[in-house]
Amino acid sequence: MLYQKNCLRAQLSQVIDALPVTAHPMTQFTAGIMALQVESEFQKAYGNGLPKSKLWEPTYEDCLNLIARLPPVASYVYRRIFKDGKSIEADDSLDYAANLSHMLGFDDPRMLELMRLHVTIHADHEGGNISSHTGHLVGSALSDPYLSFASSVNGLAGPLHGLANQEALLWLKSIIQETGSDVTTDQLKDYVWKTLKSGKVVHGFGHGVLRRTDPRYLCQREFALKYLPEDPLFQLLSKLYEVVPPILTELGKVKNPWPNVDAHSGLLLNHFGLSETRYHTVLFGVSRSMGVGSQLIWDRALGLPLERPKSVTMEWLENYCKNKAA
Ligand SMILES: CC(C)(COP(=O)(O)OP(=O)(O)OC[C@H]1O[C@@H](n2cnc3c(N)ncnc32)[C@H](O)[C@@H]1OP(=O)(O)O)[C@@H](O)C(=O)NCCC(=O)NCCS
Repeated sequence: MLYQKNCLRAQLSQVIDALPVTAHPMTQFTAGIMALQVESEFQKAYGNGLPKSKLWEPTYEDCLNLIARLPPVASYVYRRIFKDGKSIEADDSLDYAANLSHMLGFDDPRMLELMRLHVTIHADHEGGNISSHTGHLVGSALSDPYLSFASSVNGLAGPLHGLANQEALLWLKSIIQETGSDVTTDQLKDYVWKTLKSGKVVHGFGHGVLRRTDPRYLCQREFALKYLPEDPLFQLLSKLYEVVPPILTELGKVKNPWPNVDAHSGLLLNHFGLSETRYHTVLFGVSRSMGVGSQLIWDRALGLPLERPKSVTMEWLENYCKNKAA
């Protein structure tokens, strides 16, 4: 293990414990990442005048350290909020994902397998999603990997992005609470329309880029069919797979009516006892560090420039508003 347990614990407790225990787990997670930033090799090297062509080297070191330290940060947050702060030491004999599960307090071999799947599929799928793009954007100012990744995590905490896994599971649970687990197709249709008519989106469906069922949804479904086919939330989601896409299509504006990764992940964690829904996005964040980190290393190795959005004129803006209002 790359991290020093005791030293890390002191750093984390000083920063995270300053927040109310009721703060959202993602807020506590970001604060923990910022607490680690003081050890940035990149920041030191930049301060010492390391030339641009060599900046990928401390970026690489920071990314490895960051990835290694996230399971202790994530488990610190979980145990602080939900388990009276009683921490569990890392087990060096376990792989990365299994150790994460172990430090959270879950040692069931099926949960370890689930965590391996979870960490693998949430790492990244392309650089255009909000968390990955934000990491790249902030890193383009030569902010170190800790600063860049903390920004990524803040993007991930939005309900249209990573927090959708929390929202999707809460929504599934609300259906069961309202209708019971023997819900009929007609009841489900009504519930979906009720959600849409109240101005909400159906979390766990749709995507900014994909135009078919998210492959990460499908591999989680395979896992569920193998390990928890009778789980009521899984059975409900399977029914929704038939019900939601035609309704979203009927809206006439949704480009992809199919389910995404976030529809499925929460119910799997829930099945093995990690039922604190508000915490689930933190695990997404741990995994996403691998995608963001790899991208940051490439950005510096290729010497990519500062990223700027395109700007528009007042005329463009006026026309845009007129078209929207028409
Ligand atoms: C992911 C998401 C943000 C992509 O947004 P996008 O790129 O704007 O998607 P689209 O181009 O298909 O959106 C067109 C319209 O359909 C709506 N739409 C898209 N998905 C929808 C959904 N699941 N439920 C309701 N409406 C949806 C959008 O809000 C938008 O409406 P507007 O024009 O009134 O603003 C969107 O599908 C969504 O909100 N999904 C639910 C949240 C979610 O699961 N996020 C995790 C994604 S991995």
